[in-house]
Amino acid sequence: SSDRFDSESSGVALAGDYWRRDGKPDALGTSDRVGQPLSRLDGAQKVTGRARFAAEFSFDGMLYAALVYSTIANGRIASIDRDAVESMPGVALVMTHDNAPRLNTAPVFLRSPNGAAGDDHPIMQSDRVHWNGQPVALVLAETQEQADAAVERLEIEYRAEPAVTDFEIAKGQARAPDNVLGGPAEIALGDADSAFAAAPHRVDATYTTPRHNHNAIEPHAVTLKWSREAGTEILRIHDASQCVDLTAASLAEVFDIDAAQIHITSPFVGGGFGSKTLWQHQILAAAAARVVERPVRLALSRKGVYRVVGGRACTEQRVALGADDSGKLSALIHSGIASMTCHNNLPEPFVQATKCLYAADAIRLSIEVADMHMLANTFMRAPGESVGTFALESALDELAERLGMDPLALRERNEPAQDPISGLPFSSRHLLEAARAGAERFGWSGRAATPGSRREGEWQIGMGCATATYPYMRMPGAAARITLSAKGATIDIAAHEMGMGTATVQTQIAAARLGLPVEQVTFRYGDNMLAGAVLAGGSQQTAAIGGAVIAAHRELVTALLALVTSDSPLAGLSADDVVCRDAGLAAADDASRFADYAEILSGAGRESLSVEAAAADSEELAHWSMHSFGTIFCEVGVSEISGEVRVRRLLGSFDCGRILNPKTATSQFRGGMIMGLGLALMEETWFDARSGRIINPSLADYHVPVQMDVPEIEVMWTDIPDPHTPMGARGIGEIGITGVGAAVANAVYNASGKRIRDLPITLDKLL
Ligand code: MOS
Repeated sequence: SSDRFDSESSGVALAGDYWRRDGKPDALGTSDRVGQPLSRLDGAQKVTGRARFAAEFSFDGMLYAALVYSTIANGRIASIDRDAVESMPGVALVMTHDNAPRLNTAPVFLRSPNGAAGDDHPIMQSDRVHWNGQPVALVLAETQEQADAAVERLEIEYRAEPAVTDFEIAKGQARAPDNVLGGPAEIALGDADSAFAAAPHRVDATYTTPRHNHNAIEPHAVTLKWSREAGTEILRIHDASQCVDLTAASLAEVFDIDAAQIHITSPFVGGGFGSKTLWQHQILAAAAARVVERPVRLALSRKGVYRVVGGRACTEQRVALGADDSGKLSALIHSGIASMTCHNNLPEPFVQATKCLYAADAIRLSIEVADMHMLANTFMRAPGESVGTFALESALDELAERLGMDPLALRERNEPAQDPISGLPFSSRHLLEAARAGAERFGWSGRAATPGSRREGEWQIGMGCATATYPYMRMPGAAARITLSAKGATIDIAAHEMGMGTATVQTQIAAARLGLPVEQVTFRYGDNMLAGAVLAGGSQQTAAIGGAVIAAHRELVTALLALVTSDSPLAGLSADDVVCRDAGLAAADDASRFADYAEILSGAGRESLSVEAAAADSEELAHWSMHSFGTIFCEVGVSEISGEVRVRRLLGSFDCGRILNPKTATSQFRGGMIMGLGLALMEETWFDARSGRIINPSLADYHVPVQMDVPEIEVMWTDIPDPHTPMGARGIGEIGITGVGAAVANAVYNASGKRIRDLPITLDKLL
């Protein structure tokens, strides 16, 4: 297959079915709908309340669940007084480790092929407590109020044991993780430490970032029911999920049943961001429902989400940069420690972005983890990049000042010709174009080089910028089914709509590819019984779906051509010779040779035609370094009186390949950037170092940006198709949050002359 990827000979690769033989990026049919700002197809359902979320489904005879969370971080349950609560009105079950059914350990994300779970702790199988907040009892009752009242009354005694709940202490026992996203925990290119020591200009600083909790607008919930169909036990689940297929596979292992016995749907998800995976609440609800043989709904409270669903780990990062007089980097060191547990597999990968951004003569990247008694940390929008770019891009700003250089010019000086670590060519990298266009639009040339030199009354005004980046991925397992009839087409794929516009964009793309109007295409998703397995994560869902739909589309065209008779205008043509347009097939080189789908199907006596195909392997990743890029520009005001930071303007200029729908894409970028404002200025989980308890489990105490915190946000992009991805698109879901922390911190420095290296940048740090 290597000849398909010979970029030397053609300049542009041809990979199987993904690219046209003329070397142009995927042309996506003849429709003019691609690239159009189609509004969300599910918008009306959402704003009128007709969209049903996991906690809004119900079953006859359903019971309501509530959880009890441990109040110690490590130790044993000495006693639980079940009797007193079992007799309370409406209570149907009090489940603890004493009476819970036998459950297998759940397979962990990135550790098992079926892994959807956040950790591999036993689930209510013994008296052991592993974190402060671990579910230790579940109550089922006839009403939610009865269940909530019962858990308040449950008396539990613990035998606490020493726990590691202080990151400062845990750091002393830091260890190298087994792997970081499947790669090594340390990467070295040359001797970075010697190069740094010898560099004429140096920055060596430590940056810290706090824990973050997930606060999707929809708290996690599940409504489920066990039943028997033709002698087989079936588990029907309404979940809020970004991985229906993996969740079914994981639950099958937990309950010792076949994944085909589990049917999970998740038509609407009120935000995922990496958190809508498998946690104990789904497992405990299913276990309890099986015990009582009644359907169950378990809707976590906001506080419950903080106890049961992991978040972003805290980090302490060192960035050491050495440069010559021209700003050329001779040494780039990025290392540090993140909190973790040995029960999950995500060492917050804060050096990810540093791997691809800058050319340096010598590079050393390393991650260590500090094991703590805490809820397992997990993915949270751009895990690694969001906090890693805060450190790296702050350090570059510090170096630029030392060199007396413009921060953008310093970045441009170190723009790499190929991937700095792997040496692979970039599939498509137009970061400098994005940066220049953004600088122009933002008015970057108006930035005062001297910190603290611009003011309006009590407000010191400053500008900052930072690079944003997130890798392109395409995970295995994607497949799609296309069913075509005279009325239109249905695309089935086990993918997800978490609010980012997937269903809309994929309908648009499928319509274009099939030469059908959008109204005649139905995209079905969010159901593990559908074809394939696509994770809505890693900003890869669009590419993964794209790869599957391209493969299925080719199957469909081949199958249609097999139906044509010898007197058809399409007789003798193969899939390579035709294009889809006007609800039919035409010869690519002779538009007069055309037959529409209806006549092809009816000519063969068919009502419909249905094909399924799997996406080709993601071989592109072996040949190119593939990443999305961008530059974030920010203007802040810092109050000299209160220390308050107000973001006045924010602009993101992105290079993410082809933008498939500018309306939904703008919202994705903007949403990520707003989350970045939270990271920069507000978000912080207060983890009590004495008890290991999260003490701000509510949106009253855990702050996220609200309307008045969000300025006018401008979003722009290069729109240069990546010739090596399906549809020319790279992911856009996570890049928006990256770089924002540093852009804000750099703007705060430019405004006030105060360098804050500890997130969030709250006013106390500026006084
Ligand atoms: Mo994302 S953190 O991969 O849902």
